[in-house]
Amino acid sequence: MPDNPLKKPDISVTIAGIPFKNPVIAASGTFGYGREYAGLLDVSALGGICTKGLTLEPRAGNNGVRLHETPSGLMNSIGLENPGIPAFIEKELPHLQELQQQGVVIIANLSGSSVKEYAEGARLLDMCGVDMVELNISCPNVPSGGIAFGRDPEAALSVARPVRKALHKPLIVKLSPNASDIAAVASACVAGGADALSLVNTFKAMAINIEKRTPVFDHGSAGLSGPAIHPLALRMVWELVRALAAQSTAVPVIGLGGISRAEDAIEFLAAGAKAVQVGTATFTNPTAMLEIIDGIAAYMKKKEIFRIEDLSIQ
Ligand SMILES: Cc1cc2nc3c(=O)[nH]c(=O)nc-3n(C[C@H](O)[C@H](O)[C@H](O)COP(=O)(O)O)c2cc1C
Repeated sequence: MPDNPLKKPDISVTIAGIPFKNPVIAASGTFGYGREYAGLLDVSALGGICTKGLTLEPRAGNNGVRLHETPSGLMNSIGLENPGIPAFIEKELPHLQELQQQGVVIIANLSGSSVKEYAEGARLLDMCGVDMVELNISCPNVPSGGIAFGRDPEAALSVARPVRKALHKPLIVKLSPNASDIAAVASACVAGGADALSLVNTFKAMAINIEKRTPVFDHGSAGLSGPAIHPLALRMVWELVRALAAQSTAVPVIGLGGISRAEDAIEFLAAGAKAVQVGTATFTNPTAMLEIIDGIAAYMKKKEIFRIEDLSIQ
């Protein structure tokens, strides 16, 4: 007798109508445009890849220190260095589309300084070969745009709505942990047309060089990521999933923040996230995402859980 097929856990997920072969996605800004890691791991095994934050025009990024390690964490102030959307489409997308042919979902992370710039960026991304757009209204490292849109519901709606209008592809909005009422910002994004939400971007944080007696970063603050933020991010995802359920809003949440092992990812899936993203962990362990994919499948087999959504304890 052949084995009951249901005995093998199915780790595929569908988010906003897009099928992912597994729930592990490379987080924006930590995986370049996919080809940078080609010699280090089988990139085609990933569920999806989020590109570095893209803006209409090329950006050089911030001056001064850009990365600073903390106990169990990493602070960054990259400042959205990127080649601009037209150059991305011409130079980076062809390689990503090869991965897309192998079943990797390609997500463009969209940033901007003004509503107009976001909407024009969305229009260009709509016409190219990416599968989804992740709207970044949560970058803490740029003076205008970014988190300025992600802190309050009205500002979030003011950008989500025009981006939705310009875009026919599924739209994920990436939320900030630095908003005082994340659920209210999330509801505004859903009202503006978000098909999914991702949480968290980095936490606004600071380091001081006590020898020089100056802030480490030119902007004073920077964004904290890595294992140090995992329990904070998990609590926020748990609360967001609850708040959305209380409003009967059936929008999937993608959880991230400090995932470095399968156990961390499983906690997010238990908190009700439909998928996860992995960022900083890839810097210290390039194959972390593959280990996480295998670890999720092994855990499900051991616990006799056959679908990712059944991992949720919410
Ligand atoms: C060096 C670096 C660059 C990042 N750049 C972006 C970006 O361009 N757009 C974005 O939405 N998030 C960006 N992020 C945030 C990550 O995608 C992720 O939300 C955050 O790091 C938390 O996940 P982690 O703890 O697994 O890294 C960046 C993070 C790091 C460490």
